[in-house]
Amino acid sequence: MKGLILSGGTGTRLRPITHTSAKQLIPIANKPVLFYAIEAVRNAGVKDIGIIIGETGKEVREALGDGKEFGVKITYIEQEAPLGLAHAVKIAKDFLGDDEFVMFLGDNIVKDGINNLVKDFKKNKPNCQILLANVENPARFGVAQLKDGKVVRLIEKPKVPPSNLALVGVYMFDKNIFEAVEKIKPSWRGELEITDAIQYLIDKGYRVEPHIIEGWWKDTGKLEDILEANRIMLEGLEPFLKGRVDKKSQIIGRVAIDEEAEIVGSVIRGPAIIGRKSKILNSYIGPFTSIYYDVLVENSEIEHSVILERVKIRNISRVEDSLIGRDVEVTKSKRKPKAYRFMLGDQSHVEVY
Ligand code: DAU
Repeated sequence: MKGLILSGGTGTRLRPITHTSAKQLIPIANKPVLFYAIEAVRNAGVKDIGIIIGETGKEVREALGDGKEFGVKITYIEQEAPLGLAHAVKIAKDFLGDDEFVMFLGDNIVKDGINNLVKDFKKNKPNCQILLANVENPARFGVAQLKDGKVVRLIEKPKVPPSNLALVGVYMFDKNIFEAVEKIKPSWRGELEITDAIQYLIDKGYRVEPHIIEGWWKDTGKLEDILEANRIMLEGLEPFLKGRVDKKSQIIGRVAIDEEAEIVGSVIRGPAIIGRKSKILNSYIGPFTSIYYDVLVENSEIEHSVILERVKIRNISRVEDSLIGRDVEVTKSKRKPKAYRFMLGDQSHVEVY
């Protein structure tokens, strides 16, 4: 069995963060979302993995290399434009050959992994296995309609969803999917939809088996999803202390402090993680906060937030529910007149009081 992980596409809902970086590389509990996908596939015993890359391909290649660090073999497959999930399957045909494969969307996190699902697929040998999850807002996803436990209809982002069962971004296929991706036409959004390809399999009488997952799953496509994923992953954090904490600081609860990080005169209340070489000075870091590497936080309070590399936050009384992109600086100024002074990228989002 092979793996196909999708890390192309554009991250329109996560701009401006995704103007400069791949959405699949946004860290959740200080680990890029895409790494969780690779680990889930690897832990299910699949070591030969194709990665679909697009315009952010260079960055993805730099982050993953040849896969050795993950204990897998990676083959990169370049997609000329984000023409759809079924298009990604189509261009991976040479890599996949006649093998069965598991396709994993690089912005999805399945907390409990996919070991049992892969096992079931290998045992039952359907032509396709899909995962479904009960969600409150099905219109954002591909949605399945079941009858007597069988899938009868799949619709991509329906205006009027026929159920609350969303398609999770993990699919298992045998080689018959190639016939389907050749036959379908682009959707209203101009993409070759994997949802339509699976509907084709159903219509042609191929065996498509649904699995409803009970565990936690997230498509990290929006800010709130990232904060939630960060919360869930930090809850399971294994605390460690590799950096330095001075005597005046207090570490409470599940906290991980990475190599060469420094905590001075500060309170860190977990679950929270402080990345490599980050400095927290006279500050408060509250629950559900992930501070990535080379960050400086001084005389500030941060809670329930994801802070990316090389950010500087100084003299800010409180930051909450925020995702702050690489190299951003947020400071308080003593300059007169008192005013908010910004240099914000396109599509930034700021809330002030
Ligand atoms: O997350 C689950 C949902 O994923 C499913 O419920 C939907 O049925 C499925 O269509 C998909 O919907 P999204 O609109 O969220 O897909 P998105 O465009 O975000 O792409 C998913 C991943 O695949 C993302 O990591 C980018 C990558 N991708 C996407 C496209 C369209 C590619 O690598 N190539 C592409 O052409």
